[in-house]
Amino acid sequence: MRIALLGGTGDIGEGLALRFARDTSHEILIGSRDPEKARDAVAEYEDALADRTDEIDIKGFGNEMAADRADIVILSVPPYYAGDTVDAVADSLDSDSVLVTPAVGMQGDEDGLHYHPPEAGSVTQLVAQRAPDGVPVVGAFHNLAADALSNLENDLDLDTLVVADDDAAADTVLTVANEIEGLRALEAGPLANAAEVESVTPLVINIAKYNEEMHDVGVKWIGGSN
Ligand SMILES: NC(=O)c1ccc[n+]([C@@H]2O[C@H](COP(=O)([O-])OP(=O)(O)OC[C@H]3O[C@@H](n4cnc5c(N)ncnc54)[C@H](OP(=O)(O)O)[C@@H]3O)[C@@H](O)[C@H]2O)c1
Repeated sequence: MRIALLGGTGDIGEGLALRFARDTSHEILIGSRDPEKARDAVAEYEDALADRTDEIDIKGFGNEMAADRADIVILSVPPYYAGDTVDAVADSLDSDSVLVTPAVGMQGDEDGLHYHPPEAGSVTQLVAQRAPDGVPVVGAFHNLAADALSNLENDLDLDTLVVADDDAAADTVLTVANEIEGLRALEAGPLANAAEVESVTPLVINIAKYNEEMHDVGVKWIGGSN
């Protein structure tokens, strides 16, 4: 499978790219508004992955070409640019693509970060509104700290919550997310539940702010029986 990270030159793009490249056999496409910047990022990621795996399949492209080639397109751009980025690559998306958003709207003050969703209710729902007809949208990876992923010395033991209206698209994202070592993907219902998932992100960042030893904190849900 081909996984594109649009804005994959940034923090969460780097973290997901390194983990997918190290732990899975999928082809990773780094997208950028500037293809040269994408290729520079790929060179850095290859350095970070040197000695870690025999075959690293990771390439850099402009966002549109990365989206065009991919089965899964992850919008790794700041939340206020997510809608415009969907518009910019709309011609490269079709019903066979799965569009994934990890974006969270937040505002900060002296106390910490606060959840600040757009009028659509959540960034995930905004992306769904902007996506071309028939392109399934999935929310995932919202509550992960980029640095926790990028530091490959760090053994993950974290969950990520997945919201989607399209069952097949949800299954696709659950499957690839579960392939990352130490990451467990859990279903959190339809896109209507995205705000609850997104709103956990400012909470974990505030926990990190107020607890020195909790830098890059994430969430592991416990309980149940298995
Ligand atoms: N950082 C985290 O720990 C984290 C964790 C979970 C979820 N997220 C979510 O993931 C998303 C990306 O976060 P990030 O921290 O990785 O962001 P970031 O590093 O600030 O930016 C990511 C990339 O977005 C692109 N970008 C910047 N301005 C843009 C614009 N005006 N239009 C289109 N693309 C633009 C840039 O790529 P090019 O210049 O190469 O195009 C940049 O490298 C956010 O929505 C955030 O809520 C972040």
